[in-house]
Amino acid sequence: DTNPTASTRLAKNVDPHPPSCNITAAKHPSSSWTFNKTLSNLIRKNILRFLDPERDISILKGTLKPGDIIHYVFDRQSTTNISENLYRLLPTASPLKNQYHKRCAIVGNSGILLNSSCGPEIDSHDFVIRCNLAPVEEYSQDVGLRTNLVTMNPSVVQRAFQDLISEEWKDRFLQRLRDLSGSVLWIPAFMAKGGEERVEWALRLILVHTVDVRTAFPSLRLLHAVRGYWLTNNVHIKRPTTGLLMYTMATRFCEEIHLYGFWPFPLDPQGRPVKYHYYDTLKYEYTSSSSPHTMPLEFRTLSTLHRQGALRLHTGSCD
Ligand code: CTP
Repeated sequence: DTNPTASTRLAKNVDPHPPSCNITAAKHPSSSWTFNKTLSNLIRKNILRFLDPERDISILKGTLKPGDIIHYVFDRQSTTNISENLYRLLPTASPLKNQYHKRCAIVGNSGILLNSSCGPEIDSHDFVIRCNLAPVEEYSQDVGLRTNLVTMNPSVVQRAFQDLISEEWKDRFLQRLRDLSGSVLWIPAFMAKGGEERVEWALRLILVHTVDVRTAFPSLRLLHAVRGYWLTNNVHIKRPTTGLLMYTMATRFCEEIHLYGFWPFPLDPQGRPVKYHYYDTLKYEYTSSSSPHTMPLEFRTLSTLHRQGALRLHTGSCD
């Protein structure tokens, strides 16, 4: 069903073409907020018409075997094989099976988190989702420590862990994984070509050192299904970001969803500079036209949903 009437009702309030793309158009969401359970239930129901996050969060062991050929989601001409290691680390049941949480936090990686003191508030949620193995220890006051699910794009192995070139980087990577103890490590291994070796190195380390993480590899249909849901709501997203993917999936197993660290703009509402990531020196050029993402459009969509009470965006200090 690609044209649910209930979805289009929500779409009326989501303006994909605001009059100005100026960053000042992104207002600081107000602090008075009440949860709109009816809308949240409606969104969950409509998302379920496109994907089932319980199933699409990961390919399961029974569905593939080592040596099977996979076409990359965004590079259909290119293929990869299911390695022995990847097969061993496929879950046998959905990591989200029978999960239902009252309050979930999704932590994006924007520098808006710095000096927010949001750490304890984030950690108070029943389920905390983080993105791209972002560091927590050194920033715990602002971002918290609790992690129930964390994503890892293959590029993270290169960007944050120097392609594991030395024993020191391997140790750092292993330490980051060990800190996750028992959480879900969600690896989009089949999205774009180029990350095959990096995924393989990471998986080998997990197996050799018997790291206690529950690996998950998103289904091949997830990205298109998520894009389809938002398109039907008139939100034309080129390639959903990790943050939007997490929100879309979290609607399935969370009642109230709180977003922190979502601010894809170089200035805060008071005009002060904001780092692209809270933990590194990556610059905003990265989100420019060459990027496959449309983060400001996603942000405006999330802001609308915040105003409607479907989710809560936290962009200020938690003091
Ligand atoms: N995010 C944001 N504002 C920023 C940086 C990140 O709103 N300045 C949100 C986005 O939703 C993003 C999530 O936080 O998806 C995690 O950040 P990052 O690791 O940079 O996300 P990716 O989407 O994986 O980006 P990339 O494709 O560049 O790896």
